[in-house]
Amino acid sequence: MNNDPVDSIFENAINTRPLIKDRQALTIDYVPEKLQFRDEETSAVAQAVSPILKGRRPSNLLLFGKPGSGKTAVVKNVTEKLIKKAKSLGSEITIVMVNAKTAKTPYRVLFEIAQKTGLNDEGRKVHFTGLSMGEATIRILEFIQRKKLHVILVIDEIDSIAGKDDGILYSFTRANEKMSEGGFVGLIGISNSLTFKEKLDPRVTSSLSEEELVFNPYTVDQLQKILADRVKIAFYDRAVSDAAINLCAAMAGRDHGDARKAINLLRVAAENAEMEGAAQVEEKHVKSAQEKIDKDLPYMALKNSTTHTKFVVLAIANAKTGNTGEVYQIYASLCKSAETDPLTQRRVTQIVNDLDLLGLVTTEVVSQGRYGRSQRMRVAVPVDKIKEALGDDPSFANALL
Ligand SMILES: Nc1ncnc2c1ncn2[C@@H]1O[C@H](COP(=O)(O)OP(=O)(O)O)[C@@H](O)[C@H]1O
Ligand SMILES: [Mg+2]
Repeated sequence: MNNDPVDSIFENAINTRPLIKDRQALTIDYVPEKLQFRDEETSAVAQAVSPILKGRRPSNLLLFGKPGSGKTAVVKNVTEKLIKKAKSLGSEITIVMVNAKTAKTPYRVLFEIAQKTGLNDEGRKVHFTGLSMGEATIRILEFIQRKKLHVILVIDEIDSIAGKDDGILYSFTRANEKMSEGGFVGLIGISNSLTFKEKLDPRVTSSLSEEELVFNPYTVDQLQKILADRVKIAFYDRAVSDAAINLCAAMAGRDHGDARKAINLLRVAAENAEMEGAAQVEEKHVKSAQEKIDKDLPYMALKNSTTHTKFVVLAIANAKTGNTGEVYQIYASLCKSAETDPLTQRRVTQIVNDLDLLGLVTTEVVSQGRYGRSQRMRVAVPVDKIKEALGDDPSFANALL
């Protein structure tokens, strides 16, 4: 019997087998060859894009559904097969996929379109900054027409820029009426928000949603089968217990059947189990994975927030008194150093309230005697964590203090 703790760690390391066979299959970008329970949706998308194989413009298409309902996966799956089919027929098509949420601004969406259509390799470029939206759009549409490109433009998470600028959507949905010489754009919009259409200009709505498709959330039962499928691809034999799979499905199915949540939970659970040197992913690993994910939530929210929100957090972290005036002043100077126009005080107050709800900052109202009352703000997470969350955003090259 060996009781030396160091020794038993070493023994563990020798005796345990790895659980995960293919880590990549557990990432959010992975698209499995076969998507269960999405036959109807897959056929509908395939049907909608198919005219492009005969050189005709496909109808514009709008997909709706809660996060994790398989929208992006279905579109990627169909467009990948479409590219293969077009190649085998010797017909040239261009598929451009842009995520509006990652792009963050409508202009960045245009910039990415310019990159991905090849416009920026020749022609009148759409630069990273400096053009008006209208001019950028014209350059893209001219290029498509001049080159007679047959384009399917997928704008994913389109709801995140809706209301900020319908100009893009309007121009692209209407583009085809103006394009007479063989080039065209078929637009596929994907929205996580079911009420997205209400935010749009009615003129855009009518042309954008020539066809619509709603993705329903998965049931717990379906999530279970999706997970079981993924387990076969990503794990070694018997590396995940059935109970663990069922628990992941049940937890991810709780508010709305979110396949991304289910797979994430499984991945974190598996990492926990591997770290422990466990022989199998079990229910307890799923439970601690959920705790870890809950704890990381504010951190992830900050990482994915807008530049202005990040500046506000930085301003609060660097403030001495934390009062409204001081925070706004620091915020404005951060904007200045990044050559960005600051938002109004009112908008900043709204951002602070949102951050409060997320648990990233705390605010309290303090009395200042006869000077009345003022708000005091503090960051609620360690400054190191904040720096880590902001670190990889290029806007912070100069601003990190
Ligand atoms: N029917 C399915 N079968 C297998 N995996 C799926 C299925 N639906 C979604 N997924 C997986 O779940 C995750 C989230 O799906 P995604 O398409 O990104 O959802 P959405 O775009 O609706 O938010 C992805 O990793 C995807 O591969
Ligand atoms: Mg998606």
